[in-house]
Amino acid sequence: MLNEDMKEILFTAHDIEERTIEIAKAISRDYEGTVPLFVGVLKGAVIFFADLIRHIEIPIEIDFIATSSYGASTQSSGVVRILKDLDVPLQGRDVVIVEDIVDSGLTLTYLRDTLLRRGAKSIRIATAFDKPEGRKVPIVPDYFCFTVPNLFIVGYGLDYAEGYRHLPYVGVLKESVYTHE
Ligand code: IMP
Ligand code: MG
Repeated sequence: MLNEDMKEILFTAHDIEERTIEIAKAISRDYEGTVPLFVGVLKGAVIFFADLIRHIEIPIEIDFIATSSYGASTQSSGVVRILKDLDVPLQGRDVVIVEDIVDSGLTLTYLRDTLLRRGAKSIRIATAFDKPEGRKVPIVPDYFCFTVPNLFIVGYGLDYAEGYRHLPYVGVLKESVYTHE
């Protein structure tokens, strides 16, 4: 069973749900009178995205973008490839980018700059988890559920080798999971 792979559970489904509702209320207040476009970053953000938007109390639209970094050497330059682009024009839109986790900040810096260049009126970032110790570029999420230490976490959208995304909680894997490949 997958829960036997976990060394430690950091956040239960209940912990995450409580914070997600608080954030959704804050976003609903901050964007009252507008129709923000929520942009989910595939694949990691899907779980948080679906939970977050169901607690938004104002009209919104949604869209998705998929990115991948070019690899270790170019990652530090912040080069990100768009694998699936948005369907909706951004001109004049208030955009809320929804991410699973902000680590180095390179993905979000690239996305924010790209969407602004395309004419978005404003951009804010909502993330389930923030790992500030991992930062290579200064970027601060506007909304986040939890700050996490500099550990590799899985669950609630976050994967290890594409696994564990569907777990409703977030935790740290046992060392044996990494060594038994
Ligand atoms: P960055 O902020 O550009 O470094 O990249 C953020 C992306 O790296 C996230 O969307 C995740 O896909 C991945 N990532 C960063 N930290 C973790 C982690 O602890 N577990 C799983 N994926 C992570
Ligand atoms: Mg990701």
